Amino acid sequence: MPVTVVVGAQWGDEGKAKVIDLLAKEHPFVVRYQGGHNAGHTVVVGEERYALQLTPSGVLYDSVTPVIGNGVVVDLPTLFREIDMLTERGIDCSRVKLSTRAHLIFPWHQSHDAIAEAARGENKIGTTLKGIGPAYADKARRVGIRAGETTDVVHFAESVRARCEEENIAIVAAGGEALDVDDVVALFSRLGERLQPYLADTVNLLHDALAEGDDILLEGAQATFLDLDHGTYPYVTSSNPTAGGACAGTGLGPRDITRVVGITKSYTTRVGAGPFPTELTDELGDRIVDIGREFGTVTGRRRRAGWLDCVMLRHAVKLNSLTELAVTKLDVLDTFEQIRVCVGYRRHGVEVTNYPDLSTTLEEVEPVYVDLDGWCCDSTKARTSSDLPEQARALISLIESEVGIPVRIVGVGAERDDYVIWGDDA
Ligand code: GDP
Ligand code: IMO
Ligand code: MG
Repeated sequence: MPVTVVVGAQWGDEGKAKVIDLLAKEHPFVVRYQGGHNAGHTVVVGEERYALQLTPSGVLYDSVTPVIGNGVVVDLPTLFREIDMLTERGIDCSRVKLSTRAHLIFPWHQSHDAIAEAARGENKIGTTLKGIGPAYADKARRVGIRAGETTDVVHFAESVRARCEEENIAIVAAGGEALDVDDVVALFSRLGERLQPYLADTVNLLHDALAEGDDILLEGAQATFLDLDHGTYPYVTSSNPTAGGACAGTGLGPRDITRVVGITKSYTTRVGAGPFPTELTDELGDRIVDIGREFGTVTGRRRRAGWLDCVMLRHAVKLNSLTELAVTKLDVLDTFEQIRVCVGYRRHGVEVTNYPDLSTTLEEVEPVYVDLDGWCCDSTKARTSSDLPEQARALISLIESEVGIPVRIVGVGAERDDYVIWGDDA
């Protein structure tokens, strides 16, 4: 039975949640497989706007079991804040399942994130300061505390106390402020108790679902070029958002996956530092930011903006085995008279054929652009391919031919129903 992965093909915030919301109707299980509350996934339903950091976007449907997989790092205060917020708005969260194998984030991870960023000075990564990197580092060092450990109340409290005392020494040595150990132990003991009904062996849960014939949707957070291995290191996150990470982060096997949907905006954005070949630092960039409301869902930070980059997208196809693309935010380009699309790179005057393996090399490339006429009219009412203005259709066709895979969905607005299924009538 089909397992679909939705993965960001750029640097995040591509509109993954809106596409997941669209696909969730046909998938009884929606599963987060990596990252943590550094994600900000927005779904707009009428007057309601849901900005989710940890809970899988499928939670909005009663028919969906939302699962937080073993690959996620979980901040319990955020999880319960989100569950309370959703419950208040009439959404049943009793179905949420959290893997016993998922690692927990603690306040010392947030302290270390802040200390490390401050120490980097000018070379800051621009992390979300949520403790993501330090939590994954603890997992790799094999000193992390997993969600399943909360079932033994006494052992859990002892582990939290021991780790907090140990980390306080490192925090103070680095010039930070020690955490109040008793407060931390008391808070997490309370949260650990509250967690019990949500805990599950999600690996077997998902395999049982597959055996029953249920379809599963795997919700990527962050994106291909923020991947710890394949992104623009060190300006990356500390997990593997690429489709391979979906197997490690859920316990499903590679052959279970049948469809991989890459999400791209009709332009490019990035939040935080790092190379960005098609970045616009002029008023055109400001226009994209203003019209596209390109401010972080989680941090409120202004996103950097630039033209669409098909060299990136071609590489994302390789890294993720993408079977199709969803192009979001087409409507943001409605007022642009000319639209540029990067179709190649040059470095020191020479054509670059492969995506550069080092960030320092990527810093040196110059984009090669194809210029297209804009459509200069409202695309937001389009519901079929043929409703789209001719120039917008030309843009989508160019993306398909440059990237080499079909576009299936085109986003023309933030609302749930603002999309076009791109297809035969194009
Ligand atoms: P995610 O992290 O990939 O899920 O994306 P975010 O939620 O962080 O950011 C995407 C933003 O664009 C959100 O505010 C969405 O409501 C909005 N959005 C998604 N698709 C479209 C679209 O097709 N058009 C417009 N105008 N906004 C969109
Ligand atoms: P969604 O799922 C965009 C960026 C941060 C920073 C880098 C490392 O909403 O697309 P971290 O806190 O993860 O250690 O920060 O990654 N970043 C994101 N950028 N969208 C996200 O998530 C992001 N999550 C992390 O800005 O540059
Ligand atoms: Mg986001």
